[in-house]
Amino acid sequence: MKTYLVTGGAGFIGSNFVQYMLAHHSDISIINVDKLTYAGNLENLVLVEDDARYFFELVDIRDKIAIERLFDSYKPDYVVNFAAESHVDRSIETPEIFADTNVCGTLVLLNSSKAAWQGADGGFGNHKFLQVSTDEVYGSLALDEPDRFFTESTPINPHSPYAASKAAADLFVLAYKDTYQLPVNITRCSNNYGPYQFPEKLIPLMINNTLLRKELPVYGDGLNVRDWLYVEDHCKAIDLVMQGGSDGEVYNIGGHNERPNIAIVKAIIDYIRQRVDSGVSEALIKYVEDRKGHDRRYGIDPKKIRQDLGWYPETDFETGIVKTIEWYLDNKGWVERVTSGAYQDYYKNMYEGR
Ligand code: NAD
Ligand code: TYD
Repeated sequence: MKTYLVTGGAGFIGSNFVQYMLAHHSDISIINVDKLTYAGNLENLVLVEDDARYFFELVDIRDKIAIERLFDSYKPDYVVNFAAESHVDRSIETPEIFADTNVCGTLVLLNSSKAAWQGADGGFGNHKFLQVSTDEVYGSLALDEPDRFFTESTPINPHSPYAASKAAADLFVLAYKDTYQLPVNITRCSNNYGPYQFPEKLIPLMINNTLLRKELPVYGDGLNVRDWLYVEDHCKAIDLVMQGGSDGEVYNIGGHNERPNIAIVKAIIDYIRQRVDSGVSEALIKYVEDRKGHDRRYGIDPKKIRQDLGWYPETDFETGIVKTIEWYLDNKGWVERVTSGAYQDYYKNMYEGR
């Protein structure tokens, strides 16, 4: 029986990962450590909450004493660190919390892992610390060089406060490998989409607004490109890296699925028009003031994880976007609950008069 300490497991990708791991491995237990910020939601975990292999701990990863206590009581074999402030637009408004959680929180986890795992001989046995990172640490690619992609050796060059905080955390993780030989991996994935994504991110925001016949705020000229991956394929990649990733290595994760934002928005409108509401149209699209420092294009070269670990994406975009929209249609109560209260203030602040 291996014990995983998964942080941020009540968020979008973390909750998908917890469910994926419990469904694919009988011989594991998972301790989900989450502070339940606006982005964390225990409703995302109702399908596993009664599983005897699953435990929830309401803990902030910055809380050194509480994290040490968790290491003492559960003795985890592995750490998978999803916990983060994850939204670029929020990072432009309030960068400090991004440094606090994403950098200082990661440092607390690294220190606790090191203290708990180091044996009398100085070695770390079969433990592993996996840092879930992002392609945004590499900065931006140009639209007129479509054959250039981020590889693991692309220099780190973050632009947004979010990306800067994730890059800083990555550098600490690598420093713990180089300095103390802590066994680590870093995964850097492209943009995810799928069930349980908070409707501040492009795809769920556009799905929700289209269903409500609200304006669809497209930043700038709508031609910024993101490389979209269905969340379950990300979970599978992390699982493979946990099992077989070489110590100290970084793995990029992406499915060569680059699309301009406007094409995503139009695909959502088309599906909802045909499936749910013939009254919606592209007239809902509103081009709004661009995001500050908006990265033009992300594109991942996934050759390393494909060749070394046999990873490939199973869900193509056409299938994944339909599954995603259908999930939001089937879970209107979830959407209503997460978009009441504080979300309304967030939305007004971010979009009113933009
Ligand atoms: P999310 O915002 O949906 O979830 C983040 C989770 O972390 C929430 O459950 C929140 O409550 C928790 N959390 C935040 N601060 C915490 C703290 N101080 N202590 C404990 N828990 C805390 O994020 P997501 O989209 O699921 O992303 C998860 C991870 O994957 C992040 O590290 C992000 O950088 C990375 N990532 C995301 C994407 C993407 O497209 N969403 C792509 C690549 C990498
Ligand atoms: P987002 O989902 O916030 O992910 P990230 O910034 O981490 O890539 O945004 C994806 C793209 O969609 C990005 O180019 C910004 C754009 N976008 C809009 O045009 N309108 C919106 O309301 C949002 C949230 C994003």
